[in-house]
Amino acid sequence: MYFRKFPHPSNFDFIQHVLPTGKARAGRTALRTRMDRYAGDIFRIRVHGPWAKNPSLAGLTPPQRVPLHRGALNAEVDKSLALRLTDANGTVVLSAPSGRAVGVSGNGSLFLFHLHEDDRFYGMGEKLLGLELSGKQSKFWNTDVFADFHWKEIFDDRPDPLYASIPYLILKRGNRWIGLLLDNPHAAFISTGAHIKIGGGQMDLGASSERVLALGAENGEPDLFILVADSLAELTQKFQTLVGRTPLPPAWALGYHQCRWGYQSERDLRELDKNFKKHGIPCDGLWVDIDYMIGFRVFTFNPEHFPHLKDTISALEKNGRKFIPILDPGVKQEPGYKVYEDGKKHDIFCRNPQGREFVGQVWPGDTVFPDFSLPEGRSWWARWVQTFASPGIRGAWIDMNDPSTGVVQNDAMRFQRGRDDHDTFHNQYALGMAMATTEGFAAANPGKRTFVISRSGYLGMAKHAAIWTGDNISNYHYLRLAIPCSINLALSGVPFNGPDVGGFACDTNPQLLRDWQKACFLFPFCRNHSATGTRRQEPWAFDALTLRVLRHYIQLRYKLRPYLYNLFIQQADKGDAILRPLFYDFENTANQSLDRIDDQFLIGPAIMQAPMLHETERTRDVLLPGPAQWWSALDGRWIRGGRRVKAAPSEHETPLYVREGQIVPMAAGEQKHNRWNPRAMEAHVFLRRRNGNTATTVYAFDDGDTLDYQHGKRSAVEITARVEGSTLALSTRTLQNGYGSCRIRFALYDTFKNVTLNGKPLAVRRQAWTFCGVKQPILMSA
Ligand code: GLC
Repeated sequence: MYFRKFPHPSNFDFIQHVLPTGKARAGRTALRTRMDRYAGDIFRIRVHGPWAKNPSLAGLTPPQRVPLHRGALNAEVDKSLALRLTDANGTVVLSAPSGRAVGVSGNGSLFLFHLHEDDRFYGMGEKLLGLELSGKQSKFWNTDVFADFHWKEIFDDRPDPLYASIPYLILKRGNRWIGLLLDNPHAAFISTGAHIKIGGGQMDLGASSERVLALGAENGEPDLFILVADSLAELTQKFQTLVGRTPLPPAWALGYHQCRWGYQSERDLRELDKNFKKHGIPCDGLWVDIDYMIGFRVFTFNPEHFPHLKDTISALEKNGRKFIPILDPGVKQEPGYKVYEDGKKHDIFCRNPQGREFVGQVWPGDTVFPDFSLPEGRSWWARWVQTFASPGIRGAWIDMNDPSTGVVQNDAMRFQRGRDDHDTFHNQYALGMAMATTEGFAAANPGKRTFVISRSGYLGMAKHAAIWTGDNISNYHYLRLAIPCSINLALSGVPFNGPDVGGFACDTNPQLLRDWQKACFLFPFCRNHSATGTRRQEPWAFDALTLRVLRHYIQLRYKLRPYLYNLFIQQADKGDAILRPLFYDFENTANQSLDRIDDQFLIGPAIMQAPMLHETERTRDVLLPGPAQWWSALDGRWIRGGRRVKAAPSEHETPLYVREGQIVPMAAGEQKHNRWNPRAMEAHVFLRRRNGNTATTVYAFDDGDTLDYQHGKRSAVEITARVEGSTLALSTRTLQNGYGSCRIRFALYDTFKNVTLNGKPLAVRRQAWTFCGVKQPILMSA
């Protein structure tokens, strides 16, 4: 697999003439073509030809099919299968070059579209290529980065491709948002008009006369979805509905997690448990890495490390912590080892071209690999997970599922009992593993929500697992890249994601760890993880300042967990991104261009962060998008948006802003523990004293752990705040009462002459609470 070489359009034959029956040719290749339109301006181009049926496990769910001419956009297709979409004003929304729209080269395929000067690009799954992706070309082939790239390329550069492949491109054209999605699990590629310099000359993946957008694959049936929307939010919701949304995770998955390659025993976990308690730091997940096993044999526990596994898990559980082990797919090839023998008996291991077990080299040495492309391979794995989980394990992190075969080349690893080439399933290996792992945990914990997080992935992954963005480095380069990487992954259908906080490889240092924690404390997934042999990076591993700062921001995560949890509920219901770029909620104006702002982000509609991302720069510019008013956590003041401000935070502080007109649900009181108590909450009302101003939110809550919410055991309260003259009128309305009622205290960020709740006077008094390291004077009800 070449990561840096791309097919040239000149080597493709393009469809010239599609017959009314759909039959066509590309050069000598006979094809059948199909163009569909679905409700909501979703289009799909499929081509059948020399390829076997696509073995995609993505399980896409397009809406209802409608005639091609039915919908808000006008769609025309010419004889060469070139699609042209125009709006009611005749403006071209998307067009393909006639006679060069769909090409075939051997097993390869290519879709070309015209580029416009002001096009902007995003998405493309998990990449380190930045936020805005114009002029890039990139492959979609899951890698094991540390094994596939030279260290120099990794350390302070941008290795590409990474662990997860999601061939989805977002194109912003004027005020239109277009999603282009290849559902093809083979190696794919996208070029957004890249010019490549070769020895001083230029090479362009498009034709010399016209710059084009190119999407293609090295094999597999061409299958392209095109989604059109008027906003990024609308596009994201449509896309999530097509690829599947993230089911509501348990509340503990949204807590803080502590991991390290090196935690391996009951003693380690008890020690961590004790320290979190001692330091008043909430933590929901204690994670163990590969050393908990017997010689890295999957589904084993070293009895010397875990003499009382069940008791340890339940003791941790009593303290509100989950035990989260790693699972690697590689099974040690060793006669007598139960898991290996059982896999052999069920004939579920991948084969080599000679028809024998394919052997790679991972942690346990010679290793064979379950074939997750086989339904029986997935059920076999799920059964082992179920048994493994029986002492009370609720979830796992699944790793090395790129699949990593160590130093052994993996193209001889075949699927479907040796019938299918490696590339048919390579990119989906982690998806199959995630499906099976989640199924196993669900079977072991009936009625409970599961939590599985994976290193690799493919389209459709979010239905089964979250993704962490793999092995990063403890340096500022990776801290900066973490933001655009997580944003683009979120926009590509995996909202539940996050990096190794503090950095995985190399030693972190106190300032970097603090900056990392402050930047990511509200990321959908928040886990401190580091590699063996590196300096330890638990919150207490450094000085008093670092401990204080980490404690504060971890506690703040818990304080804001009800807000995060409600964003996850909205994601599960509608598909909105949680971590998102500024242009998700704001538009460009004459004095504000948001397209390339990759060092600021939103968490839901209310909170914007502009963290410190440079080792030596301790002040920064922040763009406060407008039109909006922002409450600044740095000084507790309201600032008009639509302009840039300077931020000079102390070591305790981070630039964080809350948008006016928002009510942010927070947990009641200080959060020294990780107890989930959604029946006591604080509604923080970010509203100024201006007549006619209103804010409203829905606070939904449930047990945070079981699936009972699906059977009505959830409550939801609508909270409204309205400024009428000098009065702030607060009101609550129960929308759903399946989980009982909750006690609400109100926190106000401006002063009002009178405050009422549901028509009756409400007493509020001055109080202070520390938000982002600053004592904030607010008004609080009893
Ligand atoms: C891989 C994982 C990393 C883990 C290590 C040992 O590098 O990405 O998170 O700690 O393997 O299991």
